[in-house]
Amino acid sequence: MDVHIGSQLTDLAPFEAAFTRIRELTRELRGDGHVIRRLDLGGGLGIPYTHSNETPPLPLEYGAMIRRVLGDLDVEVEIEPGRLIAGNAGILVAQVIYLKAGEGRDFLILDAAMNDLIRPAMYGAHHDIVPVRQPIPGVAQRPVDIVGPVCESGDPFARQRAMPPLAPGDLVAFRSAGAYGAVMASEYNTRPLTPEILVRGDHHAVIRPRPSFDEIINRDRLPAWLLDSREP
Ligand SMILES: Cc1ncc(COP(=O)(O)O)c(C=O)c1O
Repeated sequence: MDVHIGSQLTDLAPFEAAFTRIRELTRELRGDGHVIRRLDLGGGLGIPYTHSNETPPLPLEYGAMIRRVLGDLDVEVEIEPGRLIAGNAGILVAQVIYLKAGEGRDFLILDAAMNDLIRPAMYGAHHDIVPVRQPIPGVAQRPVDIVGPVCESGDPFARQRAMPPLAPGDLVAFRSAGAYGAVMASEYNTRPLTPEILVRGDHHAVIRPRPSFDEIINRDRLPAWLLDSREP
């Protein structure tokens, strides 16, 4: 039996309610003669997006709740955590390409765009965005709109976010970008996918290089019927 009730849940109550139903259903189905050896409880446990949400329960508390609700059922339990494993294991690094003083608000334009990290555009999701180089302690921060270079209303990553002074060429990191980040990226506007770099201690390696424009364009195929019907 399989259940998955949602994602980025930061409270155990909905899980407990669902697993209690599963417990009842398992008993009912067994009573009808069905053999149930394994329960798949799905994923969904949320992660801290640093300052943007309450601290979610620890995996240990989640495990203890599963044991409490389902422990005496004599079943194998399988879980499918996604974000919990990958979310805070990845960052998206972007470079500042331009600073623009707008009417009443300033803009920090990055070389990353909504195609690289769609969560803010799609869900209004918050990602902490921090300078890679630590700012001078005590330096004044000022609010800026942090945006990508794609001309889309969905391209803002953050509005009026307090940031230290940054200049073109500086790097910033989007935190908690390891889940629903690269896997939801696209090559919209023929923007090659961001390379993926695996880091462990002092080691790093490019595990998915940035594709070249030729590689992107050469994926397309012209069907023979279109070639045959070309004007001489
Ligand atoms: C069936 C199923 N299992 C697991 C997951 C992973 O969810 P999460 O990343 O919230 O742990 C999903 C995501 O939607 C899902 O649909």
